Amino acid sequence: MSILQSCKMSATHCQPIPIPLAEYEDEHEQSEIYMCILWFAGELGITYYDTGDCSIYFMTDAPDNEDLKLLHRIIDEVFPHCILTSAKQDYTLAKFLNNIADPAEDRQGRGKPEIVFYPNTDFGLEVSKQRILSKQFSFIPSHMTAAEKILYLSSIIPFESPLVIRALGGLLKFLDRRKVGVELEGSNVEVPILSFKKFALTDIVHVDQDTYCVLQVFKSEVHPSVYKHASGKKEGLSLYGILNHCKCKWGEKLMRLWLMRPTRNVTELNKRLDVIQFFLLAQNHETVLTLQDCLKNIKNVPMILKRMALSNTKVGDWQTLYKTVYSAICLRDTCRSLPSTIELFHTISHIFTDDLHYVASLISKVVDFEASISENHFTVRPNVDPIIDEKKRKLMGLSDFLTDVARKELHDLDNQIPSCSVVYIPLIGFLLSIPQLPTMLDKSDFEIKGLDFMFLSEEQLHYRSARTKELDSVLGDLHCEIRDQETLLMYQLQTKILEKSTVLNNVIEYIAQLDVLLSLTVMARENGYTRPHFSPSQIIRIKDGRHPLMELCAKTFVPNSVDSSETSGQIKILTGPNSSGKSIYLKQVGLITFMALIGSYVPAAEAQIGAVDGIYTRIHSRESVSLGLSTFMIDLNQIAKAVNNATEKSLVLIDEFGKGTNTVDGLSLLAAVLKYWIRQATQCPHIFVATNYHTLVQLRLLPETHLVQYLTMDTHQDGDELVFFYQIKEGVSTVSHAANIAALAGMPSKVIARGLEVSELLRNGKPIRRTDHSSKEKQLENCKSLVDKFLSLDLDDPQLDLQAFMTQEVLPSASSIL
Ligand SMILES: *[C@@H]1O[C@H](CO)[C@@H](O)[C@H](O)[C@H]1NC(C)=O
Ligand SMILES: *[C@@H]1O[C@H](CO)[C@@H](O)[C@H](O)[C@H]1NC(C)=O
Ligand SMILES: *[C@@H]1O[C@H](CO)[C@@H](O)[C@H](O)[C@H]1NC(C)=O
Repeated sequence: MSILQSCKMSATHCQPIPIPLAEYEDEHEQSEIYMCILWFAGELGITYYDTGDCSIYFMTDAPDNEDLKLLHRIIDEVFPHCILTSAKQDYTLAKFLNNIADPAEDRQGRGKPEIVFYPNTDFGLEVSKQRILSKQFSFIPSHMTAAEKILYLSSIIPFESPLVIRALGGLLKFLDRRKVGVELEGSNVEVPILSFKKFALTDIVHVDQDTYCVLQVFKSEVHPSVYKHASGKKEGLSLYGILNHCKCKWGEKLMRLWLMRPTRNVTELNKRLDVIQFFLLAQNHETVLTLQDCLKNIKNVPMILKRMALSNTKVGDWQTLYKTVYSAICLRDTCRSLPSTIELFHTISHIFTDDLHYVASLISKVVDFEASISENHFTVRPNVDPIIDEKKRKLMGLSDFLTDVARKELHDLDNQIPSCSVVYIPLIGFLLSIPQLPTMLDKSDFEIKGLDFMFLSEEQLHYRSARTKELDSVLGDLHCEIRDQETLLMYQLQTKILEKSTVLNNVIEYIAQLDVLLSLTVMARENGYTRPHFSPSQIIRIKDGRHPLMELCAKTFVPNSVDSSETSGQIKILTGPNSSGKSIYLKQVGLITFMALIGSYVPAAEAQIGAVDGIYTRIHSRESVSLGLSTFMIDLNQIAKAVNNATEKSLVLIDEFGKGTNTVDGLSLLAAVLKYWIRQATQCPHIFVATNYHTLVQLRLLPETHLVQYLTMDTHQDGDELVFFYQIKEGVSTVSHAANIAALAGMPSKVIARGLEVSELLRNGKPIRRTDHSSKEKQLENCKSLVDKFLSLDLDDPQLDLQAFMTQEVLPSASSIL
């Protein structure tokens, strides 16, 4: 009975049970991506719908040649749930789609996208244009004329890009047919489309999944897709993990997006860096804190807008939206006080229009937050709607009136009954409520003449009487009428707010940027990062760089510099004993470069980064081994990628090449690959190779060229002990120091000595003998004594048993002679 109790509107007691706000905080809803692709004559048209924010994303028609590199990248990043395309399509695309739906392709257990084909006529250009223009979008104010609407749509949709328009047409048809996200709603409910968002991938730096993994940009087991963030899972040690100090969900999402899309657009990168530089100034510290405080209140607006579009708004949504809008106004006002020379501040100052004020004041004027929550129903403030006010006054006045009725009822009742009241229960109506007397035990005791027994609850017996029936007919609908009227008002409010959804979407977009940049500022300040500078020449120069993750784990971290350029050599061959820090150095170069390309400050004293168009790596990691492929196969695969795709603007990192194969094969392949790049001369990428193949250097397998610089990790032999300085220096490591490392690991010294002896013999091409081999003198002696014994035999003696001599004398001594 407790549920009934809680919504009982009684004339005598009206104690509503508040519903905790937390119930409305469902911030983590997984989104699904529905993508439509068309590829024609080397041009790609691509668009997708994200159920998370009910937005359609599109890219203007972009060139993508036969290998569909761009498409591959987008699919990897977005990881669509479903891909739609025309049934009439090119063989290249068919093959491609076939491949990604093929389990043999490494989809990292993420499931395959569903591939859907629609007839080509569904993608007709004119049909598609009509479909777009005739659709009702909630963000288009109802007062706009048809012409205004077309003008408005053509400002956000690229009608000049035929492939995208055709893809959009197909996608809209698909969404309607599938009722994506609204499968369970009535047939009149349309898939909500709250905004159109453009994305561009023209200046993206190529970084493959393997590189993301070995550089620990994302924790390996979490797929880095922007849209598939495994919520609740703790991010382990990763670049994303340490950089992410975002205050709102949208900042986190954008941070992942920036990490997925390192860019070559220096204008864009410098814009980001300008903001960080401004926030890092000591006098702006307070501003940073103020902004971050506001950002905390930015909630899941797209989710709320989606619910509004579906008329599923929850009572808590109104307060949440109000708070968010209010905080957005605070953010704007703060940005208005900041220098408008910084573009982001300027943009926020202007694009966060007074529509925000309109939305905030509309909500606060209409919605009674407290009553809404306590009654779990959208409740309107007084003085909004006179009809509602009038009805509510009636309902309030009911209290006295009902007491009056109750007095009359009591008069008619048995004298034994001490008191009674009249209560109203929604959907049931008015009831007479009488306390249960000690004598009333059985159901038959409840019967009272002239009254219909209804139910017993909390020792109160409830009845219908002639008077309550009369009340029902006169007043019973009052409560429902109020609710209906309030719901009607809510729909109007929803429509008004949806018409302003453009400003709300802008808020989310720019607040996310602000959040990420503030987050990068915090990291830069706490760890003493510096601003990277971009250079038009082919250089990577880093002074005293640090590994951003290792420096947080190690007590002391030795900084190292990098100088890759035409004058200092673009190919670095790094030799040195195991565990001297070669791999860390390689990853550090990769990470610092990567961070610069997302517009972050970097862990170095100075950094100058030339145009970089790709980072290619072959660095061993536990993950790649666990895939079950032979490491050498992966080696070859990754190296082939680098050889085929790297340009003079690329960074190539190769660690322990050929680990899984025999030395000769590995060594010759590595030498061949490096020679190939050396021959490229000015087209040679920035290459960093860490290797244990010291013979690569000793045997002079590479031609003499200024392109190659040999580096090694500085070590010092202190008696038996090898001391690592983790400091890079020019030169070649001649000894592997394996012996010293073995000693450190506790290997017996006799074994180590023998190991050194053997490797020396090997190196000089001499035969290796067993350790239990006797000396030359001893051998000679044994030989002599055997010969003496043989000569002393009397071969004429018929009794002589030669067989016995062989088995007893010759064979046993053989091993000590030969
Ligand atoms: C580079 O980024 C800026 C915005 O930051 C943009 O205006 C410009 O068009 C971009 N350049 C290219 C070539 O895409
Ligand atoms: C690079 O070359 C390889 C061939 O080894 C190819 O499979 C790959 O798709 C190319 N593109 C990229 C971006 O790696
Ligand atoms: C260095 O360690 C790797 C294993 O990580 C091993 O395969 C290699 O032989 C070692 N090299 C030397 C010179 O100790």
